Amino acid sequence: MDKPENLTSSRKLDHIRICMNQNVETDGAGFSDVFLVHNALPECNMDNIKLSTRFLGHKIESPLFIAAMTGGHPGTIEVNRRLARAAEKFGLGIGVGSQRAALEDPSLENTFSVVRDEAPDAFVVANIGIVQLRDHGLKWAERAIEMIDADAIAIHLNFLQEAVQPEGDHDGSGLVDALTDLTSSIDLPVIMKETGSGISYETAKRGLGAGVSAIETGGFGGTSWAVIERERAKERKSLGDDVRILLGETFSDWGIPTVMSLLEIAPLNCPLISTGGLRSGLDIAKSVAMGASLCGMALPLLRSAVKSESALEDKILQINKELKVAMFLTGSESINKLKSARTILTGKTLELTKRKKEE
Ligand SMILES: Cc1cc2nc3c(=O)[nH]c(=O)nc-3n(C[C@H](O)[C@H](O)[C@H](O)COP(=O)(O)O)c2cc1C
Repeated sequence: MDKPENLTSSRKLDHIRICMNQNVETDGAGFSDVFLVHNALPECNMDNIKLSTRFLGHKIESPLFIAAMTGGHPGTIEVNRRLARAAEKFGLGIGVGSQRAALEDPSLENTFSVVRDEAPDAFVVANIGIVQLRDHGLKWAERAIEMIDADAIAIHLNFLQEAVQPEGDHDGSGLVDALTDLTSSIDLPVIMKETGSGISYETAKRGLGAGVSAIETGGFGGTSWAVIERERAKERKSLGDDVRILLGETFSDWGIPTVMSLLEIAPLNCPLISTGGLRSGLDIAKSVAMGASLCGMALPLLRSAVKSESALEDKILQINKELKVAMFLTGSESINKLKSARTILTGKTLELTKRKKEE
């Protein structure tokens, strides 16, 4: 039987393998309901368009953000190395995956510190779960930051996954106090992020009230942890897994779509990262026009990074190119200008926003 710390580590490899081999995406982030209004007189030169922006005091060369994914098993070091090299080369921000495995077993620290080694100038974000923050306090958060010389720390909220995975933590109490303790004790910015179920207006407000500096939507419509855990349960076929397979099935469409989450949080005017089902530079442009400062992708970059370093670079070039075209066609020569590009909502997203106003 594996020790608990080994389980945390081997789970990391399970996740990557399942993400590479199975369809783990849901459809429904809402980007197909959002239209950017075409500007037939752009009055700018596409070749002079600048993608650079600022986030939490850092200059970043494109709003494309490498969302938190991996580290924590020796088999993940090469993927993190490739992601970090790309972050450094293209001047992107990058998050590491949950550092819990290395906090439980320091021999795994190099699977995370490789990111800072390879990306000395990038905006690098540490990552631990809110349950680990509550249960281990500041010490773990500080160690996670130190491990990668981070510029910010993300605290992830993942109760859908906790609810359907066998090792899950079912106690969701004492979380806001844990966040408040953290934000009042460290100087670095704290980002509160979801991992696929989205963040509502009310949750964002509570996070900001607890002192977090930025919110990451982690909305529904991209990688689904209900689906990943369902696939893990299918592979294991041990006691209780039948129940988990059905749970994963039932909750595979649970969550706030990313676009809806953006619409909920944008009025709070806080630094905002859009993640969850962004699949092109056009989705990034739509997110920025709806109030996002950075736009994270996980699965598409993971799949390219596992293939090769050059596949990852090609993917990033393609995404940046798509973003540039969308900026040109909305007459936006800078990311600042893109923020005021007009969007039109249709379909289910429009329906949901109407219902919200009526309530
Ligand atoms: C393989 C994998 C591992 C992930 N691990 C973490 C994690 O440890 N911590 C975290 O905050 N988010 C994690 N995420 C969630 C992503 O940061 C992101 O919120 C989510 O995958 C939605 O983006 P996507 O649809 O582009 O994949 C992970 C995502 C993937 C695909």
